[in-house]
Amino acid sequence: MVAAVSKAGGMGVLGALAFSPEQLEIELRWIDEHVEGKPYGVDIVMPAKYAGKEQGLGRADAAGQVDASVFEKMIPQATRDWMEKVLEEYQVPPLPENAPRREGSGLLGWTDGGGRSQVEIALKHPTRLLVNALGPPPKDVIELAHQHGVQVAALVGTVEHALRQKAQGVDIIVAQGTEAGGHTGEIGSMVLIPDVVDAVAPTPVLGAGGIASGRQVAAALALGAQGVWTGSVWLTVAEADVSPIVKEKLLRAGSKDAVRSRSLSGKPARLLRTGWTEAWERPDCPGTLPMPLQYMATAEASARIGYWSRSEKSRARELLGMPVGQVVSRMNQEQGSAEVVRGFIEEFVDTLERLNGLLDAAESRG
Ligand SMILES: Cc1cc2nc3c(=O)[nH]c(=O)nc-3n(C[C@H](O)[C@H](O)[C@H](O)COP(=O)(O)O)c2cc1C
Repeated sequence: MVAAVSKAGGMGVLGALAFSPEQLEIELRWIDEHVEGKPYGVDIVMPAKYAGKEQGLGRADAAGQVDASVFEKMIPQATRDWMEKVLEEYQVPPLPENAPRREGSGLLGWTDGGGRSQVEIALKHPTRLLVNALGPPPKDVIELAHQHGVQVAALVGTVEHALRQKAQGVDIIVAQGTEAGGHTGEIGSMVLIPDVVDAVAPTPVLGAGGIASGRQVAAALALGAQGVWTGSVWLTVAEADVSPIVKEKLLRAGSKDAVRSRSLSGKPARLLRTGWTEAWERPDCPGTLPMPLQYMATAEASARIGYWSRSEKSRARELLGMPVGQVVSRMNQEQGSAEVVRGFIEEFVDTLERLNGLLDAAESRG
């Protein structure tokens, strides 16, 4: 999908969070072979805050490995017992005996060390953009990217975050409104984008959150953004690596089905409403855990539910979901990535013509 978007005239960005260093290397090599020299980016997550960071936990050792066991021990038994109860209610069977279990697989790149090893791998490839979410990337990481001629972008949900990113030396700010899928703040794109544009000028801003059509691209540019950044719309394209069950759920969902929940990572993220997101709101729920513990605590449950499975069979259809934004309302049929890019451009041009027509009509009235 990244290669298809870049070849169609967009700029594909690979979300690296879920990949081990070995997998990331394989993915980037594949992109290099298929992107026909077009620019692409890599998105990492180096959160400014996570449980244990101040005590030095989550740093990589000399071999680039992060010790996950210290985090595993921080997960309360009460949380594990409650999740087991929910899975039993939905009759989700345990994982088969021979199912692969990777030590620390729930830690992902959600620590300083995990994110850094991903940066090192990304910079060995001809990537043009490094993007970070959940706080300013460390200064030395920005400098390293610049030494490789790579620009750095960062996602923000408030003006204060944007100013902090600019002070840290980030080249491009992505102003992401609350409508967005994934980790998201509370301010809508309509208000956030112009406020961020004004606060960080002349630093370029990409508008994000709720963009899945040419009219929405035009709106973001009208608010002062220099470009747009999209996420949800790619979940239902033909090239998306998403299970057919989830794709079908997304194609049927409306905006109210995209809810903010801490159940994925411990920080608020907009997700498709499922039995799993609802369970974490129940009065008997012991509460979510801080990042990165929540994702680790739920890793086995996610595998049992089939969260990361591409199979047509699910062990628990009602619990199966995906991060997605309110713009899921416009995702009603599967299209190719190139078709989506073309559709954006065509509707954007039509919109400009319509708006120009308003100007012409006003002028002719004198
Ligand atoms: C399934 C999904 C996964 C995401 N994962 C990440 C991520 O790992 N890192 C990141 O910076 N943003 C992530 N995002 C947020 C997107 O980068 C983007 O800001 C957001 O989707 C824009 O809003 P939209 O969903 O309304 O298009 C994710 C979004 C979705 C829908």
